[in-house]
Amino acid sequence: LAPSHLKKQGTHYDLAIAIGILSLSTGIHAGEDMVFLGELSLDGKINRVKGVLPIVISLHQKGYKKFIVPKANAKEACVVKGVEVYGFENLLELVKFLSGELKKEPESFEIQDWQSYDYDVDFSEVYGQHQAKRAAEIACAGMHHLLLIGSPGAGKSMIAKRLPTIMPPLSFEEAVEISRIYSVAGLLNDDFPLITKRPFRSPHYTASDVALAGGGTNPQPGEISLAHLGILFLDEFPEFSRKAIETLRQPMEDGYITISRSGGRATFPAKFLLVAAMNPCPCGNYGNPYKACTCTPMQIKSYQSRISGPILDRIDLRVWVEPLDKESMITMKPGESSQKIRERVIRAVQIQRERFKNSKTKFNGHMTNEEIKRFCVTTEEAQRHLRLAVERLNLTGRGYTKLLKVARTIADLEGQEKINSTHVAEALQFRVEDKTL
Ligand SMILES: Nc1ncnc2c1ncn2[C@@H]1O[C@H](COP(=O)(O)OP(=O)(O)OP(=O)(O)O)[C@@H](O)[C@H]1O
Ligand SMILES: [Mg+2]
Repeated sequence: LAPSHLKKQGTHYDLAIAIGILSLSTGIHAGEDMVFLGELSLDGKINRVKGVLPIVISLHQKGYKKFIVPKANAKEACVVKGVEVYGFENLLELVKFLSGELKKEPESFEIQDWQSYDYDVDFSEVYGQHQAKRAAEIACAGMHHLLLIGSPGAGKSMIAKRLPTIMPPLSFEEAVEISRIYSVAGLLNDDFPLITKRPFRSPHYTASDVALAGGGTNPQPGEISLAHLGILFLDEFPEFSRKAIETLRQPMEDGYITISRSGGRATFPAKFLLVAAMNPCPCGNYGNPYKACTCTPMQIKSYQSRISGPILDRIDLRVWVEPLDKESMITMKPGESSQKIRERVIRAVQIQRERFKNSKTKFNGHMTNEEIKRFCVTTEEAQRHLRLAVERLNLTGRGYTKLLKVARTIADLEGQEKINSTHVAEALQFRVEDKTL
C-alpha cells in the first residue's frame, strides 16, 4: 500500500490484498503484470467497485494489460481498448483460475452502433418561439451557455428539455470521458457501461452547493461534473441558493472543479453547457404584453439580483421568451423537427472539429483568447458594427469575447468563413440588456 503518506479509501484493494496473502501461503501464482481490483465479502464473493474505468485507463497508460475485476465490472474494464480482462464472482473461482485448474476466456464487450438518439420528445412539439429555438440551436452548435427568461407557460422548460435532441453526437473518446465520471459516481450500467448520450442533468432548485459542485469526505462528482460535455439545466434559476449559483462561477470559466476535503483533493471535469430558465419577477408577468405584473420595482430588482452580475456575464445567450403568440397557439402548426435542426448543428460542429484539430478546444464556446484572435476574423463592416456595440452596451471584456464566440458559431451555422455584420447583429440580439437584466 505504498506510498503510505497517500490516504487510501474504498474497498477495491481487498482483492489484491487477499491474493497477495494467498500467493504467499498457498503458492498460487499471480503474474506481476496482473492488476486485481474488487471488494471481498466475508463469504468470498467479489463485489462491484466504483471507479474501475478510470483506474484501468490510467494503469493501461502505465503499461498494465491484464486486469482481474469483479464480474459486474468486467464490461466496464473492457471499454478500454487493448486490455485483457477477466471477471470473477468469487475468490474460489479466481484461485482455481490462477492455479491453472480453471480455464477462462477474456471478457469482451461489443461496442457497435452505440450512439443513441432515442428521445421521447422532439422540437416539432414546440409551436412558435422562433427566437428561443434559434438560441437553442446556436447554444448546442457552439456550446454556449443559455438563459431563457419569460412569463409562465411560454415554453421555456419545454425548449430546455428538448435540447439534448439537437446536440451533436458523442465521439467515442467523449463517451469514455463521460463514462469515467459516471464510473467514479457508481452510476454506470453493468450490462452496457458506456454513456451513449450527452448527459442532461436537471437538479431541483433545492439542491445544495455540494450536490452541484460535488464533495463528501471521499470527494464524489456533483451535478456539474455529471453534466460534463452535456447539459446542466437549472430550471427556476433564481430559486437556487446563492451559494449554489456561485459555485458555477469557476467551472463555467475553467471547465473543471477542484474539491478539497479532509479525505483528500479531487479534480473533476465540468465542461457543461448551462441552460437556465427563469421568470423575470416573482409573479412572472413582468414584460408580458398580455398580463399585468403585480410586483413592485423593488421586488423585481431583488428577484433578478439573485443572479449575480458575474454569473450573468458568463452566459453567452440570454433570450427573452415572449408568451406564445395566439396564432401559433390556435393553429398548432408543428415546428421544425429535432432531426432537421440537428443536421445544421452537426455541420457547424464539423467545421469546428476541423478548426480545432490541433487544439484542446473542441467548441467555439471554449475558445481561448488566442483562438478568438485567430479564428474570429470579421469583415470591415462587422468590425464597425462591433465597435458601435461596445460603446453603446458598455460590454465587459468577457462580454465582448462572448459576443465574438457566438457570432463565430452563427457564421459556422451558415458555413461562412468570415464573420459579417448580420452575424454580429444576431449575436447582439441575444444579450437582452435592454429589457430587464
Ligand atoms: N411554445 C409552445 N408550444 C407548445 N406547447 C407549449 C408552448 N409553450 C407552452 N406550451 C405548453 O405549456 C406547458 C408549459 O410550458 P413550460 O413548462 O415549458 O412553460 P415555462 O415557460 O417553463 O413556464 P414556467 O415559467 O411556469 O416554468 C407545456 O408543457 C406545453 O404543454
Ligand atoms: Mg418552466
